[in-house]
Amino acid sequence: MKNTTSVQDATSRGSFAGRLGFVLAAAGSAVGLGNLWKFPYLTYRHGGGSEGSGAGAFVLIYLAAVLLIGAPVMLAEIFLGKKTGLNPVGAFRSLRPKGGWKFVGGLGVATGFVLLSYYSIVAGWTVQYVIYAVTGALSGDADTSGSLFTGFLASPSRQIGFHAAFMGMTIAVIVGGVSKGIERWTKMLMPVLLGILAVLTVRSLTLPGGSRALTFLFYPDFSAINRGLVLEAVGQAFFSLSLGMGAIITYGSYMKREERIGPAAVSVVLLDTLVALMASIIVFGSIFSFNLSMDSGGIGNLFTTIPVIFSKIPAGALLLIMFYLLIMFAALTSTVSLLETVSAYFIDELGMNRKKAAALSGGAIFALGIPSALSFNLMADATLGGRTFFDWMDYFCANISLPLGGLGVALFVGWALTQREVEGELGSEVLTKAWRFSLRYLAPVAILAVTLGMLFGGVDA
Ligand code: PHE
Repeated sequence: MKNTTSVQDATSRGSFAGRLGFVLAAAGSAVGLGNLWKFPYLTYRHGGGSEGSGAGAFVLIYLAAVLLIGAPVMLAEIFLGKKTGLNPVGAFRSLRPKGGWKFVGGLGVATGFVLLSYYSIVAGWTVQYVIYAVTGALSGDADTSGSLFTGFLASPSRQIGFHAAFMGMTIAVIVGGVSKGIERWTKMLMPVLLGILAVLTVRSLTLPGGSRALTFLFYPDFSAINRGLVLEAVGQAFFSLSLGMGAIITYGSYMKREERIGPAAVSVVLLDTLVALMASIIVFGSIFSFNLSMDSGGIGNLFTTIPVIFSKIPAGALLLIMFYLLIMFAALTSTVSLLETVSAYFIDELGMNRKKAAALSGGAIFALGIPSALSFNLMADATLGGRTFFDWMDYFCANISLPLGGLGVALFVGWALTQREVEGELGSEVLTKAWRFSLRYLAPVAILAVTLGMLFGGVDA
């Protein structure tokens, strides 16, 4: 099915250099604020601060969603990108020109656009925290770190300024090209991030009371399961794995022919899940052992708890700087994948050059992000159904748009493509069968059930 133009396109668009190119870049995309900031935050919201609560149920449903829906959709997206060598819209169109499938790709590009506009706000927080860490503004005192965070949120100019800075950095990487930037840095920094996370995980579990984090996270109260919880767990699986908007299709399109999709998908899914779990153990370990009050919405947990735990380890001040730098970097490799997807569309479909595509789309995304930046201060009271502009952007992207994009991918690879077209990719017949089964039945039914439940049953259940 590979036609020659798409192969040429793939070469002129650049491809990954090393053997692990795809895995590194995809891991860079997947591991980000979704794991480090949002997963602990959602877990907190569902858990309400005590063990035997909804947190364990949320984590359990999340893990099930990753395994049963996330992993098969991940395989399907890598498959589509690798096979066509094209951006999400082109990938669908080149395989099935008729039937409107390309709109699934189009929805993905649009979602990436919106998602990046508010993601970049939180990404900007990491830049401020690197500066705080360097200048010694962060202390081990929980109250001080809490009020520092609140004060920072309250400043419209700083929220917009750091958002602008982050978008600028992202555009710069995109202009530099795919392989040189992302691949090289991820390869060096990902192991360091994992190392620091591992040290912190052990430290927080060995603090007095720290191990309560484990009961909090892994002891499910099944009665806490409701429609809202399941929807957010499924949404978070898509968000965290970068699925449903074509980022993985785009990265798959730069994959070398000899790289195998099965092991690649497994590595990315495992790594992503590991980071999310470690981040939560660290955050809740500190909360329980230091008796921290979780800040009101829990939205700042990553920023308010981390300085406290670092004050309890040797060379903490130095490690704290490194840690925030790494988080910033993890966020950057995610924003890069979002902007790359949007730009690849402009480059391939509208014939723009890389620089222009990145600058134009990046600029527009920055502008759309401004109301999200103001959601923490000037527009904090402008809520609808209890949600700010920022909350709505996130709610819509993560819980509706990404799962619907994932549904499109599952239906496309499961039903529109023939058995012959997908065969042989996994190298095992049993695995191919299980994969197809999830794409044809399991994933679509699950996604439809949660999104329709939301649409017809109301948002807040
Ligand atoms: N997966 C990224 C994270 O967890 C966010 C992201 C979502 C990136 C969708 C690309 C596409 O931070």
